[in-house]
Amino acid sequence: MACNKVKMVIDKEFRISEIDERIYGSFIEHLGRAVYDGIYCPEHPTADEYGFRSDVKEMIRDLNVPIIRYPGGNFVSSFNWEDSVGPVSERPRRLELAWKSIEENKVGLNEFTKWARSAGSDVMMAVNLGTRGIADACNILEYCNHPGNTKYSDLRISHGYKEPHNIKTWCLGNEMDGPWQLGHKTMEEYGRLAEETARAMKIIDPSIELVSCGSSSLTMPTFPDWEAVTLQHTYDHVDYVSMHQYYGNEKGDSEDFLACSDDMDQFIRTVIATCDYVKAKKRGKKDIKISFDEWNVWYHSNAADNDITENHPWQVAPPMLEDIYNFEDALLVGLMLITLLKHADRVKMACLAQLVNVIAPIMTEAGGGAVWKQTIFYPFMHASAFGRGTALLPVISTPKFDTSRHEDVTAVEAVPVYNGEKDEVTIFAVNRSIKDDAEMTIDVRSFEGYRILEHIVLESDDLLAVNGPFNEKVAPKQTSQSSLDGGMVTSMLHKASWNVIRLGK
Ligand code: AHR
Repeated sequence: MACNKVKMVIDKEFRISEIDERIYGSFIEHLGRAVYDGIYCPEHPTADEYGFRSDVKEMIRDLNVPIIRYPGGNFVSSFNWEDSVGPVSERPRRLELAWKSIEENKVGLNEFTKWARSAGSDVMMAVNLGTRGIADACNILEYCNHPGNTKYSDLRISHGYKEPHNIKTWCLGNEMDGPWQLGHKTMEEYGRLAEETARAMKIIDPSIELVSCGSSSLTMPTFPDWEAVTLQHTYDHVDYVSMHQYYGNEKGDSEDFLACSDDMDQFIRTVIATCDYVKAKKRGKKDIKISFDEWNVWYHSNAADNDITENHPWQVAPPMLEDIYNFEDALLVGLMLITLLKHADRVKMACLAQLVNVIAPIMTEAGGGAVWKQTIFYPFMHASAFGRGTALLPVISTPKFDTSRHEDVTAVEAVPVYNGEKDEVTIFAVNRSIKDDAEMTIDVRSFEGYRILEHIVLESDDLLAVNGPFNEKVAPKQTSQSSLDGGMVTSMLHKASWNVIRLGK
């Protein structure tokens, strides 16, 4: 095993941007056991008076998630929001077409919004632009945000919610470029519908922010024409374009899997370029920002999910998308977080998809059993806790290597975050070489009087190690692998490791 030599210079003045805390958002869809038997489980001993599990909520609070996207996902594209409000006993049982499940509507938009706020999160609400359109988007907005004295605001009040929910962020549909989406549209069809829906919604509440649907992934055949065409329609009325991306190590090629964050980086660069092209074409003044509102690793559960939809459809809360994450998945999640931070000037919101039981950092045993933290919980928790403030430019020189599908892969990826209020700087670093350790020297001379507060590491000899209830194999630990002398930090980054190096006064 060799030891790679890596150098980094960080400086208070090398600023990328202030970090919008909403990049630590997440997502809860009416899918599988995310809502039912996830956050909501009236029979659980820790359930509150509304049936929500307090132990799960506590774990969500540990992640400090400022915003949660809801109610889908693919689910939203055939969602009738009216089914989910009013007395629970009168709500219909419906066929849920996206995931071929039964939706009982025991939890709806009022209960969810109240729950989210109690978990410390705002709601990012999506409207159905698949099977529905402008009128329904206006009605749900009136229901949620208008104070009263109109049909839908009075309906909300009659349901026991006197105060408007004041939901500020709204997604104009979900993955409308995807042929799997109910009501899938061409870019012209979606562009026009989103433009007119956005215009109408902003008449009702000009204070809202709107997200135009971007491509469902980097590999969609319509990317990036989709962004170029749809944004020419929506540019004047929206604030963000969405991005979605999931990765999987289907081939068992870990080195190449860990290089996937480079594709995410290129994806973001191309979307920014396309937004700027539209801005120039429109002679516009504003920059369209990015809402990376679905991102994660997703592949472990594919076969089981297909079996459910093909052979066992129409169940209530079936165990779908229950990926059990291993250690290398946590490394890629860390790398994806670093990538988001490196684009903090344009990525203003992001949602780890999802939050509980469905491709999630938090899992519960079926039937109201134990709750536990998956491997990916930890890099997200660290970034959310210490990645607030200003993202600084990482000026790094590091060895590079090629993998089966990627060239010039940097051995070490890192980003510093400066928190001026606390007088702290945190360096998030992944050594993505699975063979070689790295010795990283960091020039921190602009942080005079700082000392090392801690170096936290997430590492494992086994890239495939997983956590389970009462069995945590992958957990962070403190190390003494960093030292500071004469304004230079020297840190040992073990092969395949996530590192959080914190300096302060
Ligand atoms: O997060 C799971 C699914 O992935 C969402 O419903 C959909 O938007 C995406 O394809």
